Amino acid sequence: MKTGATFTFIQPGHPLYAGELELRFRVLREPLGHTRDDVAFPFEADSLHLVAHHEEVVLGCVLFNPEDAHGGRLFQMAVAPHLQGQGLGARLVRTLEVELARRGLTHVHLHARAPAVPFYERLGYAVFGDPYTEVGIPHRDMRKTLG
Ligand SMILES: CC(C)(COP(=O)(O)OP(=O)(O)OC[C@H]1O[C@@H](n2cnc3c(N)ncnc32)[C@H](O)[C@@H]1OP(=O)(O)O)[C@@H](O)C(=O)NCCC(=O)NCCS
Repeated sequence: MKTGATFTFIQPGHPLYAGELELRFRVLREPLGHTRDDVAFPFEADSLHLVAHHEEVVLGCVLFNPEDAHGGRLFQMAVAPHLQGQGLGARLVRTLEVELARRGLTHVHLHARAPAVPFYERLGYAVFGDPYTEVGIPHRDMRKTLG
């Protein structure tokens, strides 16, 4: 997956947004038995949306909600199943972090599904606090200070 993917920051209404929502549904919500109504977040329009795509096909995405002048929450991290494990997720996070640093943001936190904790640890994120359940799945809070 070193070639073939373009990384673009978009907003709701962009031609790639429907593909982003569909990927989020397929990867993050449908496996839990949720409907498409559960995909959008209340702070959708206030968030950064980074999509990896090949032409009009969305292959992966990650979102970031700014919470204050220093940082915010990374969320809705998803890679198309047939491309997982090929480095695309890491490239999405690193591309997002470069943009956050460019904007002067230094603090990122996220709610990691337990199986994804090692993925975020590889990217320099550290677990904090106690385990908890969200959307019926064990989660850990994680955070990173951008260097
Ligand atoms: C989690 C997810 C986003 C990771 O993206 P990905 O493209 O598959 O991951 P990458 O190939 O970029 O992996 C980067 C590194 O993390 C490691 N890694 C990824 N997933 C891992 C896992 N579950 N356990 C251990 N290591 C993992 C990779 O081996 C790789 O290590 P390396 O740097 O030594 O090569 C993707 O698998 C996914 O969409 N999963 C389903 C949805 C999900 O769980 N999203 C996260 C919600 S919090």
